[in-house]
Amino acid sequence: MIAPSLLAADFARLADEAKAVPGADWLHVDVMDAHFVPNLTFGLPVVQSLMKYTDIPLDCHLMIENPDRWAIGYAEAGSHNVTVHAEAAQDPVKLAKDLRAAGAKAGLSIKPKTPLEPWVEVLRHYDTLLVMSVEPGFGGQSFIPEVLDKVRTARRMVDTGHLTVLIEIDGGINDETIEAAAEAGVDCFVAGSAVYGADDPVRAMESLRAQARACGRR
Ligand code: DX5
Ligand code: ZN
Repeated sequence: MIAPSLLAADFARLADEAKAVPGADWLHVDVMDAHFVPNLTFGLPVVQSLMKYTDIPLDCHLMIENPDRWAIGYAEAGSHNVTVHAEAAQDPVKLAKDLRAAGAKAGLSIKPKTPLEPWVEVLRHYDTLLVMSVEPGFGGQSFIPEVLDKVRTARRMVDTGHLTVLIEIDGGINDETIEAAAEAGVDCFVAGSAVYGADDPVRAMESLRAQARACGRR
């Protein structure tokens, strides 16, 4: 699966930018609050408006403090998947239950330096594991290959039935990095600048998809 990230799109034309990637599996929406990360994007009202203009399932990545308070609104608005950060959540198990009860898939994200092991039990309550492959906050950064160890571990746990999460990766995914991520066992690839920075976003997306398919183990 490929999830183009609107962070690299033109924020004044979000509806058009969503239409520019027909065939995207998910549309990745980066919500930043200038507290959890040193950058600010947009919040729930913008996501609610965007939803009226696209049928692509929204993948909301909340880089915010106190997701226990704010994440539920994104689920109630109709997001397909709502991802919160393990480092920010107070009660991630309850949060996952609340997100699912509101009709969304629940995602848990870990920053590059956050280990996977302490979160494995919590992840039993989640649908998606989002492994950050850059420090969250900005697009266009370089991929951190060391995070692929966490992907491999998660892949083993899924393949042996210990976890049932979809494994997503976010940050620095492009035609030079996607193959290693696919080999490690990623299911869903977020790509911002590699898609929206390309002259032809659809072609860029399909070429990433073909590379991932050729190297992926699934
Ligand atoms: C970064 C965001 C990413 C960002 C990725 O904090 O979570 O989703 O859009 O951008 P690229 O693909 O350009 O690294
Ligand atoms: Zn993101």
